[in-house]
Amino acid sequence: MASISQWYAGKNVLITGATGFMGKVLVEKLLRSCPDVKALYILVRPKAGQSMSERVQDMMKCKLFDRVREVNPDFHQKIIPISSELTEPGLAISPEDVQTLTSCINIVFHCAATIRFDEPLKHALQLNVIATQQLLSLVQQMQHLQAFIHISTAYANCNRRHIDEVIYPPPVEPKKLIDSLEWMDDSIVCDITPHLIGDRPNTYTYTKALAECVVQQQSGKLNIAIIRPSIVGASWQEPFPGWIDNFNGPSGVFIAAGKGILRTMRASNDAVADLIPVDVVINLTLAAGWYTAVHRPKTALVYNCTTGGINPFHWGEIEHHVMSTFKRNPLEQAFRRPNANITSNYLIYQYWILVSHKFPALIYDLFLRLSGQKPQMMRIFNRLHKAIGLLEYFSSQDWEWNSDNMNMLMSQLSFNHKHSKSKEKKVFS
Ligand SMILES: NC(=O)c1ccc[n+]([C@@H]2O[C@H](COP(=O)([O-])OP(=O)(O)OC[C@H]3O[C@@H](n4cnc5c(N)ncnc54)[C@H](OP(=O)(O)O)[C@@H]3O)[C@@H](O)[C@H]2O)c1
Repeated sequence: MASISQWYAGKNVLITGATGFMGKVLVEKLLRSCPDVKALYILVRPKAGQSMSERVQDMMKCKLFDRVREVNPDFHQKIIPISSELTEPGLAISPEDVQTLTSCINIVFHCAATIRFDEPLKHALQLNVIATQQLLSLVQQMQHLQAFIHISTAYANCNRRHIDEVIYPPPVEPKKLIDSLEWMDDSIVCDITPHLIGDRPNTYTYTKALAECVVQQQSGKLNIAIIRPSIVGASWQEPFPGWIDNFNGPSGVFIAAGKGILRTMRASNDAVADLIPVDVVINLTLAAGWYTAVHRPKTALVYNCTTGGINPFHWGEIEHHVMSTFKRNPLEQAFRRPNANITSNYLIYQYWILVSHKFPALIYDLFLRLSGQKPQMMRIFNRLHKAIGLLEYFSSQDWEWNSDNMNMLMSQLSFNHKHSKSKEKKVFS
């Protein structure tokens, strides 16, 4: 049983999406548990008035890195930011940086994507599919590459009930779609989007399915793996329990419920809420990177990274757990006392929306207006309703994911790897 940490020693790693939720956890885990990794090259763009270096400096101040900082205050020296805008030709990487990357990178983790469910199709295609194609062209030139790990989603094929660990035929040939959308006006693309995405609920799952196909088509002789996590939530154990940096998906819904804002949601009590902690996904990703490089499977291995088949947790149970947690540990500045109920009945749901959301929001906004302040509650509720509307497809039905490859990978790990928290030093050193 080789040590994963030993395998990463001396390796140069390239990470896209390192400033995102999962990317940051990946960077932290590598630095903490694989201290001999040579360098982490991260593709970063300037954003919101901040330069690339300012963003990276800010990121490293994040509490997430406290444990790494304790052990190695100079950990930032291993992080090498590379300026890149993934929607630009050639990913907008300078020729010098291309030269550096192609000559030194050993393993690539492709995490960057737009995860907005309602992203306009052209943009989702540009980032999730075309950028993946361009990255693969760069990766093909890497002289010392040992593995390419692509982060997909368990819902890329959510139009199927049973999902195996295979790359399914794409809904459309990616090249044909890219060529057609190129000349089309945004408004035309918008009009035809529902027809194109067909039985998928949104442009996110549609473009992630196309990206998997692109990875397969362009893999050539590369050693490739695809990780398909379900709904990624706060950390379970590492670097400490409960770390999260966003309000996306159910995490935002839980906070809204805890603040007493969300009082109702449409979901099926019996449907599985397939949530998976971010540290579990990242541990699997790093283990898959090691396995792919060392065992060089003949075809790309797909890892469905889900919890429903192992430890199902239903939306009905969530109602109970979330409410009792917030009642025991109330959040600060709550709007109302937390008390949300989940229903699958459309009419009951609309009734609660009116009585428990819109009516209190109107009263509160009236109070704000009368006291000379700007009304805000209705705006917050409108955003919340949009967010829970986008989740409805996923909270009202079940999927069955095969997880043979994940189990196979687990069987390759020693006891120490599987119980990495208490034995962390042994596992990764
Ligand atoms: N979160 C989930 O529940 C979940 C579930 C299943 C699969 N996944 C997959 O996991 C991966 C990571 O998701 P996440 O939750 O970490 O997403 P995230 O927090 O939104 O991070 C997305 C990352 O992509 C980067 N990015 C986006 N547009 C870019 C551009 N034009 N140029 C350069 N970089 C760009 C972002 O950089 P900026 O900081 O510059 O915006 C950010 O680092 C994605 O592939 C996603 O599909 C996520």
